[in-house]
Amino acid sequence: MDNVLVIGAGFMGGGIAQVVAQGGYTVYLQDINPESLERTMAQIRWSTDKLASKGKIKDSAKTVQDRINVVKDLSIAPKCQWVIEVVFEDEKMKKDLFKELDATCPVETILASNTSSIPITRLASLTKHPERVAGMHFFGPVPMMRLVEVIKGEKTSDAVFKKSVDFINSIGQYPVKVMKDIPGFIMNRVSGVAFREALSLVENGIATVEDVDKGMHYGFNWNIGPFEIADNAGIDTYVRVGRSFAALGAGDIVAASPLMEKMLKAGRLGRKVGKGFYDYTPDGKQVPFDVTKL
Ligand SMILES: NC(=O)c1ccc[n+]([C@@H]2O[C@H](COP(=O)([O-])OP(=O)(O)OC[C@H]3O[C@@H](n4cnc5c(N)ncnc54)[C@H](O)[C@@H]3O)[C@@H](O)[C@H]2O)c1
Repeated sequence: MDNVLVIGAGFMGGGIAQVVAQGGYTVYLQDINPESLERTMAQIRWSTDKLASKGKIKDSAKTVQDRINVVKDLSIAPKCQWVIEVVFEDEKMKKDLFKELDATCPVETILASNTSSIPITRLASLTKHPERVAGMHFFGPVPMMRLVEVIKGEKTSDAVFKKSVDFINSIGQYPVKVMKDIPGFIMNRVSGVAFREALSLVENGIATVEDVDKGMHYGFNWNIGPFEIADNAGIDTYVRVGRSFAALGAGDIVAASPLMEKMLKAGRLGRKVGKGFYDYTPDGKQVPFDVTKL
């Protein structure tokens, strides 16, 4: 089986490493922050133990866990057939990383990004081989969500695009093909508009966070509401994505919002820190919190 390097071991990188290992691949997981790696490996152990005990993965939890190797730097990259970049939503950081990977990896290695908003063509712009760069946009929490948008940059070759779709199928996820490389691709354009409106309703005192979430759940069959999704994804990540949309001239999709900036300042970063649009008890129970008082 191929080797897959996942760069960035946060909320998304950890989940991606897990599903790729569940698919039978050997995974290398790298992060600049050792604490992220430690926290994420503990999360992967917890999640694979739980999924295995319910018979939801085909190999034992230990087999899957043993396929994931923590690495301190990117020196393994030239030995990998796939590299998936999952670092912060920061265009310069991602571009520099692709430039470095392009210089060190054999031309057969496929370089993919999990960016939420940035066109792949821009991320590949400093590489000599943009034809091997594609988008693989997973949804979180990755072990629970099956969708992956596969994005064709302007210079991505047909062969690399097809291989990327096949790769996503091979790990049991559902690929959706994005044939034109626009900011936000498909799903974040749709959900971004819904979130912008949800935020505006709360900021203007028209509805509470709980009522908007309840409404989308009972009225439109969403599993969880837009604010619950934001708390799971991380308010810091949402703000970075919002700023990125604005920088790309697509700021009408996700509004830069004073409330989100206030939440960031107050450290209300979502479920991972026990407070976001809701408060969370140590056993994970969700408790209403009035964000308009911030
Ligand atoms: N959170 C979501 O729901 C979601 C969904 C889809 C896509 N994304 C995208 O995935 C990417 C990561 O998001 P996340 O939610 O996992 O963020 P996160 O903050 O949880 O994790 C990012 C990780 O990247 C690490 N990192 C930063 N710079 C690095 C570098 N140069 N080299 C190696 N590691 C580095 C950080 O230490 C951190 O552990 C972003 O591009 C984001 O837009 C997020």
